[in-house]
Amino acid sequence: MSSCRAYAITADAVANERARVNDDLSQMDITNVIALDTLDLADVGPNDVKFRTLAFSAEHNLTHAATADTVNIAELRGGKIYPGNSALGEVTEVGGNVSKFKVGDIVITHCNGDPDPYGYPLRIWAYDQPDSIGWYAEECVVGDWQLVHAPLDCGLNLWEIAALPLRAPTAYHMWRRAEGILRVKLPDEQLSTFNVLGFGGGVSELFLMLAAHRGHKAYFCSGSPERREAMEKFGVIGIDQKQYNRFADRSDIKAFGKEVKRLTNGIGMHIVCDLMRGPCFDAGITAASRQGVNVSAGWQLSRDCTYNSAGASAKQITLDHTHYETPTGIDAATSLYGSVFKPTIHNEIYAFEDLPRAVVEMDQAIQTGIPIVRVAEDMPAAVQSLIP
Ligand SMILES: NC(=O)c1ccc[n+]([C@@H]2O[C@H](COP(=O)([O-])OP(=O)(O)OC[C@H]3O[C@@H](n4cnc5c(N)ncnc54)[C@H](OP(=O)(O)O)[C@@H]3O)[C@@H](O)[C@H]2O)c1
Repeated sequence: MSSCRAYAITADAVANERARVNDDLSQMDITNVIALDTLDLADVGPNDVKFRTLAFSAEHNLTHAATADTVNIAELRGGKIYPGNSALGEVTEVGGNVSKFKVGDIVITHCNGDPDPYGYPLRIWAYDQPDSIGWYAEECVVGDWQLVHAPLDCGLNLWEIAALPLRAPTAYHMWRRAEGILRVKLPDEQLSTFNVLGFGGGVSELFLMLAAHRGHKAYFCSGSPERREAMEKFGVIGIDQKQYNRFADRSDIKAFGKEVKRLTNGIGMHIVCDLMRGPCFDAGITAASRQGVNVSAGWQLSRDCTYNSAGASAKQITLDHTHYETPTGIDAATSLYGSVFKPTIHNEIYAFEDLPRAVVEMDQAIQTGIPIVRVAEDMPAAVQSLIP
């Protein structure tokens, strides 16, 4: 058995930090909760692959795990989790039954931890899947079914590829669901071009790239001027969320709704991508067109949402709650790296030791793009030319 450095979140650390701030989650310091630990790696079984992590993207589920704002996942998992469900690595060992991968291959992970009979995840890897060990670690042992060949020739650089393993399948899944639902109500001959709105964040950005790529009119309501500007090159129109005080008040939502009507010639948004909930949920419902679809895979600001059912019925609005893709859908999403998905990367590439700070800065919404953590100092020859 070998061991390596890996990040862990313990129920004790969550409890101590919550006690320190009297359960005021807004005051929690996540750097007191996410800590480097030593992980004993499992032996490589016949269907397993061992890889050394080259880079990964920081993901928001870390914030949920560290603050226990949704569920106390570290406690539910027996007191400790090793988080991290997005990674890019180099294969260093394969089990006897593994034919899809060989030593030296560059791979990315997906986080579907336990597919149901249709392929959709019952549980998410390194979150609620029992015994799952995450990939915010120097080395990992994982079942071969959970890896995909990294598309090294897709035109993206290494950090851009590392930004996508979790966010791209999520965006792809949300898009195909929203599009399918809308098409049940409005076939192409009735509506060929959709108005599509997304609120800030990496998944929304990818969702809007896909919408724009398919020829639809896309709008990005974000508080970050840099990220709005980065989306302009895809033809995505920016709306400054801070101009509406991040929807702190009913009057802000009303003003936003008025602006949406102006931008869309009185029609509104046929599809709204809302991974935030909280105040963004009401803003998204207000922005929706008749027959609109509101799709979500996140609850960053609030888990619960309430709405006027009669109003939603009269406007024929559909709410769709998604989680994550099937393995087949993950392959489809990966095929869009570089051609559709061209993520914006934060202007600092974080060192492995800086992950806690990267998560805090992600939570503060001060990053100029998706945060990437470099784990390996010595990069294999296969990726040398992809490092900017
Ligand atoms: N189910 C899944 O498979 C899945 C996968 C990925 C993510 N998620 C969930 O989806 C959510 C978003 O994830 P992500 O990766 O897209 O996020 P992200 O890249 O970490 O970005 C978060 C964004 O939230 C926006 N934001 C922050 N505070 C805000 C506030 N007070 N009001 C409005 N917007 C605010 C910021 O955008 P601006 O500053 O630009 O406005 C920020 O860029 C998270 O809860 C995450 O856990 C779920």
